[in-house]
Amino acid sequence: MIHIHAYEKWWIGLTVLMLAVLTTLIGLSAFSSGFQVPQPFGRVDPNTIKDSGAFVDANLGLHELAPGKYEAYLLGQASPWRYYPGEITVPVGSTVTFYVTSGDVQHGFRVQDTNINLQVLPGQVAKATHTFNKAGEFPYICGEYCGVGHQNMFGMIIVK
Ligand code: CUA
Repeated sequence: MIHIHAYEKWWIGLTVLMLAVLTTLIGLSAFSSGFQVPQPFGRVDPNTIKDSGAFVDANLGLHELAPGKYEAYLLGQASPWRYYPGEITVPVGSTVTFYVTSGDVQHGFRVQDTNINLQVLPGQVAKATHTFNKAGEFPYICGEYCGVGHQNMFGMIIVK
């Protein structure tokens, strides 16, 4: 039997306790606060995305569901690199649910001063909701490197 010093035992015990406490906290936050990895809320076929469905040109942009409640459909595209639409305007206090997808390669969708930061994959629809309680300009950018025109992929949410 190997002799373990008393202090060593305490430190081992403390380490095990910390692991147990922190693992429990992660579990609690995941289940009670609803933290989760992004889910594929919908799937689309990138090859036919422009022909039918929610991401045809005519449907891109903002739709009012009820007073103060909106949904916005955005399509990220490379070559030319940009987001469609490039600008969205909503009144202060609006709650907007974003549905974002890509027609080609992997992009990102990140809105400044919000916690929206989505990975945008071809074939999947990423979804996020935010309430804009402050007037101002909220730029959105592509947050994943997607080619030589990556830096041109940006747009603006105007809240007034
Ligand atoms: Cu799209 Cu970077």
